[in-house]
Amino acid sequence: MTNIFAVVLAAGQGTRMKSKLYKVLHPVCGKPMVEHVIDHISSLNVERVVTVVGHGAELVKETLGNKSEYVLQEEQLGTAHAVQQAEPILSGLSGTTLVVCGDTPLIRPETMQALLDQHASQNAKATILTAVTDDPTGYGRILRDEHGQVSQIVEQKDATSEQQLVKEINTGTYCFDNEALFEALKLVKNENAQGEFYLPDVIEILQKQGETVAAYVTENFDETLGVNDRFALSQAEELMRARINERHMRNGVTIINPISTHISADAVIGSDTVILPGVIIEGKTVIGEDCKIGPNSHIVDSQIGNATTIHSSVVLNSQVGNETAVGPFAHLRPESSLGNHVKIGNFVEVKKSTLGDDTKVSHLSYIGDAEVGKNVNIGCGSITVNYDGKNKYKTTIEDDVFIGCNSNLVAPVTLKKGSFIAAGSTITKEVPEDALAIARARQENKLGYVSKLNSK
Ligand code: UD1
Ligand code: CA
Repeated sequence: MTNIFAVVLAAGQGTRMKSKLYKVLHPVCGKPMVEHVIDHISSLNVERVVTVVGHGAELVKETLGNKSEYVLQEEQLGTAHAVQQAEPILSGLSGTTLVVCGDTPLIRPETMQALLDQHASQNAKATILTAVTDDPTGYGRILRDEHGQVSQIVEQKDATSEQQLVKEINTGTYCFDNEALFEALKLVKNENAQGEFYLPDVIEILQKQGETVAAYVTENFDETLGVNDRFALSQAEELMRARINERHMRNGVTIINPISTHISADAVIGSDTVILPGVIIEGKTVIGEDCKIGPNSHIVDSQIGNATTIHSSVVLNSQVGNETAVGPFAHLRPESSLGNHVKIGNFVEVKKSTLGDDTKVSHLSYIGDAEVGKNVNIGCGSITVNYDGKNKYKTTIEDDVFIGCNSNLVAPVTLKKGSFIAAGSTITKEVPEDALAIARARQENKLGYVSKLNSK
């Protein structure tokens, strides 16, 4: 097996995006497009991955971290010039180099592998991944000679009107014999409409040298979409969304309405979980089996156990146990952790708090900076008073505590095991184990007072 190297082109500004954010960092299904590319490449058997960075270099490096090595292209003089920057790392190595643009997030690893396989089997010096489309506008066109061999790639801006009719396009993904690539790059010139050094020119150079240049035509043009503007970004999002949803459905997840269901590329969902319409699942969220999610829930970077329901709720950076019910209309803010058989009901907000198994907060409560034990019942409208305008304080509620409706727990405060808080209490000091705390004004009834007032 020959060594495989990869070069990812990610130095461009992406002017057509009209954005402050560098093009390759625009997310598709929640993940920067260049990261999709790198993750696809990493799933192949690749020795080294080199990303060419330029515009937003630091941010791109920060995003991809140690998934890649980096070379800097200080001035963006074209795609050939970009690949040339990898010379210090790759020149002289024998093997095959896969070149992929950072703006083609949909090209699947299977397609890259098929390209590599064809390249090897034809013993070619270069193999281009091409596709056929009815609307090739914007892409480089593949020109073939009378024997059907690829002879040249001509860019949209350099193509004659006749060449523009060609429907076979360059996807921007290629593989090359590594040594031949760096030799040929030295011969690329920038005499073209854009004054750039075009990587596709390497094809013509090798072909003229009498080397074998091949093409692998993929059936699936959709996969090869290059994202140059926001419209293409929305198309990429739609295609990626459909692909992700299909993967989950084939793995046993029911998605009632895939078009309105947005699941990030890295989310994991167990079988027999049902996703109702309007659900957005972001980041590295993990959802167990037999759950019911939605309608209209938004879950970000969270872990949800098995057989749990998240109904019309927001869950951010939190953990939720098994057979737990959240919502409708609940908000779990970051660093919340719910045990098993917990109930978080309507209009309840939980922030940076731990709630033990079998605990219930069924209606209209705020639980912030609290440690709540097992089997605690927090009555409707109860809140932790965690903030004095300057600092946040902790509330500790031990196991088996019962809190009557509309209680205020003024932190820092502890309610010991099995204590009972009378409805409407404002608790400011520790409640001992097994004690009943009543902290409210006593009621006084003034008999006959209403008719006396009315008769005045
Ligand atoms: C390129 C190809 C075109 C192909 C299309 C497929 C060239 C000249 N043209 O066109 O044949 O059909 O991709 O999507 O290669 N980049 C750098 N440094 C540079 C220039 C570009 O790193 O100096 C990076 C960009 O960040 C981008 C990628 O290379 O990720 C492609 O550049 P882009 O300007 O998008 O090329 P296209 O015009 O789409
Ligand atoms: Ca492009």
